[in-house]
Amino acid sequence: MAYFRPSTPSSAVALLNGKARIIAGGTDLAVRIEKGVFKPEDIVDITYLPLRYVRENGDNIEIGALTNMSQIASDDLLWRTFPLLPKAASQIAAPPIRNRATIGGNIVNASPAADSVAALIALDAQVKLLSGSGERIVALTDFFTGPGKCVRRDDELLTEVIIKKTHKPDTRVISHFHKMGQRKAQVISIVAMACLTELDEAGRVLKSRIGIASVAPVPFRAYEVEKFLEGSVLNDETIEKAAKMVSEAIKPIDDVRGKASYRKHVAGAFLKRHLTDSEEGRAGIASFKTPYNEKAHAEFAPSGGICVTVNGEKYNYNGNMNVRLLDFLRDELLFTGAKNGCGEGECGACTVLLDGVPVNACMILTGGVDGREITTIEGIMEGSDPGNVQKSFVDAGAVQCGFCIPGFEMTAHHLVENVKNPSREQIREALSGNLCRCTGYEKIFEAVELASERKNTDEK
Ligand SMILES: Cc1cc2nc3c(=O)[nH]c(=O)nc-3n(C[C@H](O)[C@H](O)[C@H](O)COP(=O)(O)OP(=O)(O)OC[C@H]3O[C@@H](n4cnc5c(N)ncnc54)[C@H](O)[C@@H]3O)c2cc1C
Ligand code: FES
Ligand code: FES
Repeated sequence: MAYFRPSTPSSAVALLNGKARIIAGGTDLAVRIEKGVFKPEDIVDITYLPLRYVRENGDNIEIGALTNMSQIASDDLLWRTFPLLPKAASQIAAPPIRNRATIGGNIVNASPAADSVAALIALDAQVKLLSGSGERIVALTDFFTGPGKCVRRDDELLTEVIIKKTHKPDTRVISHFHKMGQRKAQVISIVAMACLTELDEAGRVLKSRIGIASVAPVPFRAYEVEKFLEGSVLNDETIEKAAKMVSEAIKPIDDVRGKASYRKHVAGAFLKRHLTDSEEGRAGIASFKTPYNEKAHAEFAPSGGICVTVNGEKYNYNGNMNVRLLDFLRDELLFTGAKNGCGEGECGACTVLLDGVPVNACMILTGGVDGREITTIEGIMEGSDPGNVQKSFVDAGAVQCGFCIPGFEMTAHHLVENVKNPSREQIREALSGNLCRCTGYEKIFEAVELASERKNTDEK
């Protein structure tokens, strides 16, 4: 399997010969390659392309395909213009996945349960596709053709998402992203609903947009319900009728995550909640947005091999670029603190810091870390002694097993270093991508609080 790292969109497109697979954040693809589900002849790693931005261009907001969910969840321009999208992004998976998962990957993966897509279709978003024969723009509502299928051709690179600003200045706009899952984080939605309603001063609906995921083969818009709502005044009767209509409009299936009848009920309840503008759905808006400080990759000139800094020391590597970062760290560099738990982004045992933010090393290919800085559990020690977080875990009795704790400590280290006096809610949110299967989380939360207190005392 050849590994390519183009540095411009046109050189990336020139490599798309039908046998190559694009890799972006790798949160969907790396696992499938590891499990042998996909066996591409070539891998085109696009992480070095300059497609990581959110910008205003006239009446449009443009989002580069490589912009990840953490970036979207904490982007001021998006919160001011289209809060629905950051609301959705902040409910995807858990912080380490959000630090990698790109918007382009979430779209092209074409999952019926793609959360960002529910929001994007409600915002009438379009995508820009680049190939050797030029560029084309496709409305996202026309993009999906079935589970895992879309109109993107093998020779096309999705470069940008475009959202047009259409709200009139003197209208009230309410938008909610409601997600129901079996737990608060790391879950595929049972139902995800993105709603936007524009109202005039009299409370009459000027515009209604309802995007729903996880209830059909592709995310879709509830056009009939939107049509019913537009022009009506929101009162109990209208709201009840709209909720009933949306339950009837969706055609979900029974699966391991939920029964069709339950999904219909939840969809109705979500719309009702939106139209009465009450509290956010069960998952709520993430209270802790991971500070995003990943470097701009475009500044690196990718060579044949990689040069990576691990725990402050530079390493050159010219071997297999397709091995997982986790295996590279453990087997090549002998940093064995990061563990291979699930191998698919679920448990956090493999957590390391990449340019300062927590990521799952089991989902990253080594070719993608050229010029970057990695910190493993070995790198947060103070000389040959345990570091603050490590000592606090021992003192609080939180070292419950040797397998998951390094991952917990990496995430806790990042939190304590970036957030002063984190609340319980912030600690829960930050650690939501780290699973304990043996004991529970209480001692771990206490250890993080202790580490934070000790850091504050040291700083005085
Ligand atoms: C534990 C876990 C929890 C998750 N939870 C959620 C969740 O709650 N909600 C949700 O919506 N998703 C969730 N996901 C799915 C996943 O994180 C997203 O789909 C992610 O956004 C994919 O982006 P990526 O950059 O990692 O894509 P990759 O894995 O790199 O690529 C995905 C696919 O898109 C193609 N591709 C990527 N970028 C481009 C491009 N620019 N142009 C053309 N093709 C491209 C690749 O070839 C590949 O086929 C979860 C995943 C995991 C592992
Ligand atoms: S998340 Fe990487 S091993 Fe479980
Ligand atoms: S800490 Fe490892 S299973 Fe609980």
